[in-house]
Amino acid sequence: MLNIEVVMADGAVHEVQAPVGQTLLQAVLNAGLDGFAAECGGCCVCATCHCYIDEKDLAKLASPQGDEDQMLDFTATERRPNSRLSCQVKLEEGHEGLRIHMPDRQY
Ligand code: FES
Repeated sequence: MLNIEVVMADGAVHEVQAPVGQTLLQAVLNAGLDGFAAECGGCCVCATCHCYIDEKDLAKLASPQGDEDQMLDFTATERRPNSRLSCQVKLEEGHEGLRIHMPDRQY
């Protein structure tokens, strides 16, 4: 199991545990945390599962590619260099301790 830290828009920090192979979106939803709308259910066509990867962890993830890169232009809050769509981030061993930040809205 990996340990992931989710920083909510109000600053509250939640520890989430998730298995390797799960998506970041699924990990957060399984933990019962609000913040992702995930309207398309993880198909990379809604951009409502947007989050920001903590700067300290940016090197742990590859840059967004293809459809994700394009959909990131449609997020409700500003796209930043550390923006990702959580449904497109598949958790790997190297993601242990990953910290993400929730935007304050998805619409
Ligand atoms: S859930 Fe729709 S793009 Fe990620």
